[in-house]
Amino acid sequence: MADEIDWDSLRRYATQMLERAYAPYSKFPVGAAGLVDDGRVVLGCNVENASYGLGLCAECGLVSALHGTGGGRLVAMVCVDRQGETLMPCGRCRQLLWENGGPDMQLATPSGVKTMAEVLPDAFSAENLAAPAAGADDLETR
Ligand code: THU
Repeated sequence: MADEIDWDSLRRYATQMLERAYAPYSKFPVGAAGLVDDGRVVLGCNVENASYGLGLCAECGLVSALHGTGGGRLVAMVCVDRQGETLMPCGRCRQLLWENGGPDMQLATPSGVKTMAEVLPDAFSAENLAAPAAGADDLETR
């Protein structure tokens, strides 16, 4: 699958999104582009806020675009900085990507294409919610 992905095209889309970024506080625009399993490309850019901690990463916008344009699963994605260099998604965004792409999603990283399983090992996921937590019975008796 990885060899079918047009990384140059995805990177171009991500770079175009830099112009849409709203990053007046950090002055660190980020663009993101993802390939969906039906062939769609979904995009995102970071959107900051005067209340600094409320800023939205580019991946947040991308995930919203995924759902808002019909859903599906992310197959591949890339984030870029203002130089167009590949940017590693932050920890929170790796969790967002895991939810929407799973362990096999391909991620462009500064050290090459990796799977989500490689960049978020032992991930917390919906499967953990399904399994009863160890000691849950004890809690019920309290
Ligand atoms: N940022 C992203 O958009 N994605 C990441 O994965 C890392 C950080 C944004 C958040 C903030 O607007 C700026 O980059 C500086 O941290």
